[in-house]
Amino acid sequence: MKPINVGLIGVGTVGGGTYAVLERNQEEITRRAGRGIVVSMIADRDLEKARQLAGEGVTVTADANEVVSNPDIDIVVELIGGYTVAKELILKAIDNGKHVITANKALLASHGTEIFAAAQKKGVMVAFEAAVAGGIPIIKALREGLTANRIEWIAGIINGTSNFILSEMRDKGLTFDTALKQAQKLGYAEADPTFDIEGIDAAHKLTIMASIAFGIPMQFEKVYTEGIAKLTREDIRYAEELGYRIKLLGLTRRTPKGIELRVHPTLIPTRRLIANVEGVMNAVVVKGDAVGATLYYGAGAGAEPTGSAVVADLVDVTRMHTADPKHRVPHLAFQPDLLSDTPILPMEEVETSYYLRLRVLDKPGALADIARVLADLGISIEAMVQKEPSEGEEQVDIIMLTHRAVEKNINTAIARIKKLPTMTGKVTRIRMEQLGGK
Ligand code: HSE
Repeated sequence: MKPINVGLIGVGTVGGGTYAVLERNQEEITRRAGRGIVVSMIADRDLEKARQLAGEGVTVTADANEVVSNPDIDIVVELIGGYTVAKELILKAIDNGKHVITANKALLASHGTEIFAAAQKKGVMVAFEAAVAGGIPIIKALREGLTANRIEWIAGIINGTSNFILSEMRDKGLTFDTALKQAQKLGYAEADPTFDIEGIDAAHKLTIMASIAFGIPMQFEKVYTEGIAKLTREDIRYAEELGYRIKLLGLTRRTPKGIELRVHPTLIPTRRLIANVEGVMNAVVVKGDAVGATLYYGAGAGAEPTGSAVVADLVDVTRMHTADPKHRVPHLAFQPDLLSDTPILPMEEVETSYYLRLRVLDKPGALADIARVLADLGISIEAMVQKEPSEGEEQVDIIMLTHRAVEKNINTAIARIKKLPTMTGKVTRIRMEQLGGK
């Protein structure tokens, strides 16, 4: 059978990785797909770079519009990232009846609803395995492997850069700033690392996972997002002493009141497998009602790991290319006319447990005052440690772990605790999850 023609837009890290994997494993990929998959056109503003990558007979252009308008191209692979140009190109490709593969999590999380609706109308596929957790086939697992289940929750380490920073802080006792510089030196963090360290990149990926896990529209704007920039070595060490590790988690959970959608630093028991995911690696735990908790682990970024995900999509699209659109797996795993309007739970209403660190004067009654505030709000203490004051100091750190409480009650408690006369510093609050599940 005649090979399927692919147009590649963007030859950065992922583009290069995709090309390399496709070339190296061509024979096996053809045996799997049932026909050859050939990159016949490459677009990049850096023409020289595109030329270096392109093999014989591959058309190279600086104008990506030529790819999405070329009638010979069957599948467009968008790997330029960003919102404006990428969106225009994808919509144009769809309009021209082409299937699209993208790694663009930011675009899908913000404009996925519009893009999938356009693809649905045209009867083309938009595949996005590479958009979440790089090489880990988490989209495939959620959309197909776990399709029998009512998904209960997902918890993921889905930003390698922030996980690397937290690992370095814990392992080597580094400050956040030093660990970030280290990540930048090794080329993990972007030049502007805001998306990584402020949890925005993780929120994009969480939005996509929640959408296909629960059959809800993409709602990036409703994700509660808190990054890792304010974490200290002390909190990481205290958490360890209590048997917990701090990770930046993306969490989504179905509750009777709505769906939780949140990214924040989280204490998780050190004995959990996911707590031991270190460095730039990613991992996602999915809890289904039938299967229980399942764990997916692997490289969340990098040329060939992400290329592996793009090529998997290429094979899928090639196989389903001629199928009746009704017989394909729906974009968001659920039939588009059966998406649910379950509300997203505001953060104030979320119930979880908490780590609190309070700096107080080491005086009689200091602890009793704090305990009273918590008791008045129905917040129960699970564990408590008071640190020895340093030589000549009158202030001590008190660390408390609470039982489950509603976020708005904790907020009120913190506001009241801050006003106590024995309080000398700020109150540090980090959320805590057990992530148990049989
Ligand atoms: N910046 C991302 C990370 C890379 O650090 O995980 C891929 O999304």
